[in-house]
Amino acid sequence: MPQAIESSIDITSFSRVIKIRPTRKKRMLSLIILVQFFSFSLAATNPIFPCAHFLKGVSFSCFQNGGDIIGVSNWTIFERQKNIVGRPTINSGQQCGISAGFWVNAFDDIELIKQLGCNAVRFSVEWAAIEPSVGQFNQEILDWYKRYCHELIANGIQPTITLHHFTHPAWFDETGGFTIEENINYFERFAAKVFTELSPHVTIWYTINEPTVYSFMGYILGMHSPGIVGNFQQAGTVLKNLLSAHTRVYQHLKKLPHGDRTQIGLVHQVLRAQSYSSWSPVGLLTAAFLNFITAHEVVKTYLCSGQYTYQLPGIVSIKQYEPLAPASYDFIGINYYSRVITSLTGPTCLENEQMTDMEYAPYPEGIYEAIKDLSALGKPIYITENGIPDARDAQRAEFIRRYLQEVMRAREDGYDVRGYFYWTLMDNFEWDRGFTQKFGLYEVNFKTFERQLRPGSQPFVEFLSTKAPKLPY
Ligand code: BGC
Repeated sequence: MPQAIESSIDITSFSRVIKIRPTRKKRMLSLIILVQFFSFSLAATNPIFPCAHFLKGVSFSCFQNGGDIIGVSNWTIFERQKNIVGRPTINSGQQCGISAGFWVNAFDDIELIKQLGCNAVRFSVEWAAIEPSVGQFNQEILDWYKRYCHELIANGIQPTITLHHFTHPAWFDETGGFTIEENINYFERFAAKVFTELSPHVTIWYTINEPTVYSFMGYILGMHSPGIVGNFQQAGTVLKNLLSAHTRVYQHLKKLPHGDRTQIGLVHQVLRAQSYSSWSPVGLLTAAFLNFITAHEVVKTYLCSGQYTYQLPGIVSIKQYEPLAPASYDFIGINYYSRVITSLTGPTCLENEQMTDMEYAPYPEGIYEAIKDLSALGKPIYITENGIPDARDAQRAEFIRRYLQEVMRAREDGYDVRGYFYWTLMDNFEWDRGFTQKFGLYEVNFKTFERQLRPGSQPFVEFLSTKAPKLPY
């Protein structure tokens, strides 16, 4: 691994960032006192507050919106490397940098979330910032997250937290990361630390974002950190360890103070591939390959029975049984974007469809199918991500309308969907694609950091303005 690289903003400039707003600081202080009082009394009197209403909000990851602040993450290392054909790992050699300026603007951006009308937000915490070197936790950052949660709550927005969203400290990768089972201990310790600090204020927790995507993008397609291509053995091992990590973290956090009043779940991306034609061997084989690497059934079976089976005859066979798995999640988080249609010439769409800015067309019915499919596990569902890359803002409005219709249809049909989070609040660093993909409800000018609501986001604002259905639980 490259030697430790200085992160672009260090703790000194981080404090400076906070210091440049004295009036805001004062206001914050009084708010914090108020909010602390409010949240503690709330916790004492109404422990099931978080699931009383359908959650409607936006979802984002701190790294994608703000990059590293203290410590160095795996993605900061990865984005400076070349891939196996000698080209930059990120589209046109872009780097995340400070992205949309999350670490500077986070508190002001709460106003944007509020203006939309959200009652909840899903965001990730940055492990590299919280534990910049092994076992050294940065209390300043933990306190910052605490204040951030307080400010959200003070604005009527429920914070919900992802513990791992593709990024972790570079030192963790140096130990072998999730390829080594023993390293789960590091993640468990980090998760327990964050939970201890923030669980008085946060009742919905996601352990790991998209274990399957982390595994196949990082170890088979080589497009995400750590950029390994075609290593099925490692991909299967990493997926197994991520699922074990989820189970262990669930068991651990539930035993900590506040554990019994929190809901903890796993976030899984449902991505199915199908061939355009039923007779094209290339289309059929590509779809079968994609369905193998996206490992939907592997995850579902693990959650249902504890049986982990990752098998491709003659190439890889990994099996493990984890008896605690079926009892180790309170809900499933579904990330759903679309399906992939494969063909001889690459990803395509049906005649009546139009591609988004990525290699797929919208498929609203798919979100209903995903809900129906995962409801078989018998746990509540949150839609933790759903959105469209659409730089021209030509498809966004229709996308939002149609997908929301399908989510609401699922609820009407009796599926226990308890929330919907749009991906994402504002344009940001879209991993290997750099800044080329525009998922934001708000458009970001990356020179001036100005945020502008896209006209196509309007149907979401309208949805948010309707009264959140009360949940009968
Ligand atoms: C990830 C996000 C990503 C989004 C859009 C999901 O796989 O969780 O981090 O930005 O898809 O591609």
